[in-house]
Formats: sequence, structure tokens, C-alpha cells
Amino acid sequence: MPPAETYRHITVRPEPEGFGAEVTGVTLRQPLSPEARAEVMRAWAQHCVLAFPDQPLAHEELEAFTLQIGPFGEDPYVKPMPSHPNILEVRREPDEKSRTFGQAWHSDWSFLDTPPAATLLHSKVTPPVGGDTLYADGYRAYESLSPTFRRLLDGLHAVHSARRSYGLQGTFATDPEKRAMDIITGESAEASRSHPLVRVHPLSGRRALYINPVYTIGIEGMTEPESKALLDFLFARMLEDRFIYRHRWRQHMLTLWDNRCTMHFADGGYDGHLRVMHRTTVAGERPVGVQ
Ligand code: SIN
Repeated sequence: MPPAETYRHITVRPEPEGFGAEVTGVTLRQPLSPEARAEVMRAWAQHCVLAFPDQPLAHEELEAFTLQIGPFGEDPYVKPMPSHPNILEVRREPDEKSRTFGQAWHSDWSFLDTPPAATLLHSKVTPPVGGDTLYADGYRAYESLSPTFRRLLDGLHAVHSARRSYGLQGTFATDPEKRAMDIITGESAEASRSHPLVRVHPLSGRRALYINPVYTIGIEGMTEPESKALLDFLFARMLEDRFIYRHRWRQHMLTLWDNRCTMHFADGGYDGHLRVMHRTTVAGERPVGVQ
């Protein structure tokens, strides 16, 4: 990957954790020049999570910027804004007692056949305390493992399902607390689908652990205790501090992250305060493993 100083149309400040970067020098409410867009895409491929501060965006501007990254993705189980079917409002009222949406490590909609490549999250109202989003780097977690262990993982497929969250007995179906977001639960969430446990990124060619504690429910061909032991070990590795970037929001910030090589977690911690974020996704491809 080229060093940060080779950017000419944007300014990229990598986070000291070695993952994630802040991008300035562009105005997202206007179409990017081809050169600036190419540099944003390059920075995204290099850093996996990009944060753009000071970017007030109307709904249409958020949609237009999303479409510069790629076509909209599918967003099941959460009702979108009625006037903007590709924007989800991630909203928590000050008096809500329900579990914070996204407060468990996940990669967006990994149970789909073609999960979204990217998610964009834009801050409208940020609480005075808490409300951070944490990101975990699936590339470096994979690369930290021994060659022998990596070879073993390269041949495995993990089973993903929405059932723990959106299924008949899932978190959202059984939570009696009122919530501002309109979440859909039901039978369709019980389905499961397998993806390679190690995903080869279509742009960078790098390998990443493609599993997450919310949607990954097992490993093909393994008993439950075997799957659990292996997944627990891998999740613990992915969540080591050295692989985490903590994003602290200010109003009018936008993050763009790559679901193919990261997990994320909404940290909560702002009970009594309003938090409003707008979220879009970009369509992805069927995950490809090591050939
Ligand atoms: C999400 O999981 O998409 C929500 C993240 C957040 O609200 O910080």
C-alpha cells in the first residue's frame, strides 16, 4: 500500500492504533472529483475505517455520497426512514431502557448471501457522554496467527444466521422495552448460510477473519462444543486491544467502514441522552475464501 503522503486530493491521518484513519480536505455534500474519489477508495482499502469530520449532510447528500462508493445494499430487519428507503435511522431516545442497537460485535448482515461491502454512519445528534463505535480489524487478527493455524482456518466455512437477534426467540423479539427504532423479527431470521471463515478481500487481496459473535453460530462439520471453542478463541484474538479502533463521535461526522474485514460495536453508555445517526449500506459480493 502507498504511504499516506502520496494522497494529493485528500488529507489522510492514520489512527495510531494502526487501523482506521481520519480524512479531511473533501466536502462530501458535493460530488467528489474522480481523483478525490479514487483517493478515498484507496484510503478506505488501506485503513478499513474512514472518519470524515465536519460534514453536515442532508438525506439526499448522504444518499448521493453512498452511491459514489457503490450501489445501495439490502438492509433487512430494520424499517428505513419512510421518505428515504435506503437510510436507517439509528435512534435512541433519552428515556429508552432497551438494549442499544448494535451493542454486540458484528459485521453488518453477514448472514445474507451477499452481505454489504460498506456501511456509512452519519452523526446527527451525539450525546455528551458515551455513544462511541468500536471497530475490530479482521486482517491483522488473522495475520497474527501462526502459519499452521492459518492454514487450518483457510479451509473452514462458518455458519451465519440472524436468529439470535431477529429470530422468534431472538434479542429483539423478546425484549419487552419500548424502542424508537422499528425492528422486524420473525421466522425468516431462523435461516442460516455458510461463508468462508477466512475471507479474501476482492480489492486488497488480503485475508481477514470473517466471523462475528452475533451472527456466526457455528463452523461447518464441527460439533457445537468444537465450534464454540474455536470461535471463542478467534473472537478473543480479534478483540485484543491492539486490533481495536475506538471512534469518538462529534456531530456531523461520517464513518465509512468495510464489513468484509472488520467488525463493529455500538458502545452505549449514554442513557438519559438522545443519540441519532443515519446509516446506509453499499452492496457487496458473495464472500470468497482462500482458493
Ligand atoms: C451499527 O451497528 O450499525 C450501529 C453502530 C452505532 O450506532 O454506533
